[in-house]
Amino acid sequence: MFNSHIGEKEHNEARQGEALMLENPSDKNNGRKLFIESYGCAMNFSDSEIVASIMMDMGFETTADFKEADVIFINTCSIRENAEQRVRNRLKEFKGVKSKNPGLVVGVLGCMAERLKAKFLEEEKLVDVVVGPDAYRDLPNLIDLVDEGNKAVNVLLSREETYADINPVRLNTNGISAFISIMRGCDNMCSFCVVPFTRGRERSRDAHSIVQEASDLFNQGYREVTLLGQNVDSYKWEGGVNFAQLLEMVALVSPALRVRFSTSHPKDITDEVLHTMARHENICNYIHLPVQSGNSRVLELMNRTYDREWYINRIDAIRNIIPGCAISTDVITGFCTETEEEHLETLSMMDYVQYDFAYMFKYSERPGTLAAKRYADDIPEEVKSRRLTEIVDRQQQHSHIRMLEQIGKVQKVLIDGFSKKSKNDYAGRNDQNATVIFPVDERYKPGQYVNVLAERCTTATLIGKIVD
Ligand code: 5AD
Ligand code: SF4
Repeated sequence: MFNSHIGEKEHNEARQGEALMLENPSDKNNGRKLFIESYGCAMNFSDSEIVASIMMDMGFETTADFKEADVIFINTCSIRENAEQRVRNRLKEFKGVKSKNPGLVVGVLGCMAERLKAKFLEEEKLVDVVVGPDAYRDLPNLIDLVDEGNKAVNVLLSREETYADINPVRLNTNGISAFISIMRGCDNMCSFCVVPFTRGRERSRDAHSIVQEASDLFNQGYREVTLLGQNVDSYKWEGGVNFAQLLEMVALVSPALRVRFSTSHPKDITDEVLHTMARHENICNYIHLPVQSGNSRVLELMNRTYDREWYINRIDAIRNIIPGCAISTDVITGFCTETEEEHLETLSMMDYVQYDFAYMFKYSERPGTLAAKRYADDIPEEVKSRRLTEIVDRQQQHSHIRMLEQIGKVQKVLIDGFSKKSKNDYAGRNDQNATVIFPVDERYKPGQYVNVLAERCTTATLIGKIVD
């Protein structure tokens, strides 16, 4: 039996009496351990920090070892079929843990929870609780229900929820970089995309709470924040603050705080945003601007609401207003009916922009999306694979060219920590978001800025030495 959630109000009323009987509602959870793992986008990682905060208020503590956990949460992604498959495989691993510890609570959060809802409880017998991205405040009730021997679901989407007042608990943090969620949901309806269905309508978070969070992070020693939203350029807070203005407000927290953001949308990115970036040295010169396809007909089928010319115009504006700005992208290959010539237009767009970095995907049909309803997924798998290889090869050439351009230049690097390969080297990132490796110098610690002369590179990393 599971209790499908009916509505927050009714639930809260039913629970109020019981909550009052406990001297401290968090007592019953004291010492219980939460393990939380995230898949998919940065937004999901950021959401897990909100979930951890809510659970800690309930008395839980977090653990990095799932074998000692009382509650395992898996924050899931639905973007492509293989993202969902990865989660299902992981759940199989947790099955082994649960057979040894029958009291273990397993929860599925995030986009797959939203997409599959209660069906999850039937399909994956080990799951006890299913919580959609707008329902995390209901976790105290849901965990109570599970503790009473029920299964629990809340996948209600909200038009208002932004978790603005929740202080995220930083997970897996280096104490230097943090994500700040500035908006939730998406109103774009790209035909391939499941996000509008899993994360609901777009809503922007109170600008003051964002600036406060950035300022608190800075005071705790953080030196880089990334403002997150599905489409940051359509940020609009009721007080009349647009994204360019928000960016400026966050940049003014301190010149020593680096500000990044993701994701920009080609239809919405304004010159005002670009000029704001150019004005503030601490807003990093890096823009993630997903193109998806270089062909206007395919872009129309994808419902991206811009065409090839428009995208090129935005690239030209970036190059004019912020010379040296790094640009990365997302590409989907093998979208419904994509011809060979259209694929070549994606390659020629890549040649035009010479992206610093790209995330490249084969089209994966997602149930319920506009494309799934309207178009046949008709490009054979081997054609998708071949096109993807061509795109990946081209991107490698471009990434290499971009790296070579940095050689001989002095990079302002924020030290993140030691290099993965050697404790004798530090790793950090330059303004354009490239990783830079250089020998440790005792005078500098992680979280500080240093000037590094780039001397050589691999395809993804600059290697150099500190220059004073
Ligand atoms: N198939 C393949 N890639 C997709 N993306 C989103 N939906 C799909 C899909 N159905 C990619 C897009 C998007 C990125 C986050 O994931 O490129 O920008
Ligand atoms: Fe995956 Fe999109 Fe959900 Fe992020 S918003 S977890 S990318 S489906």
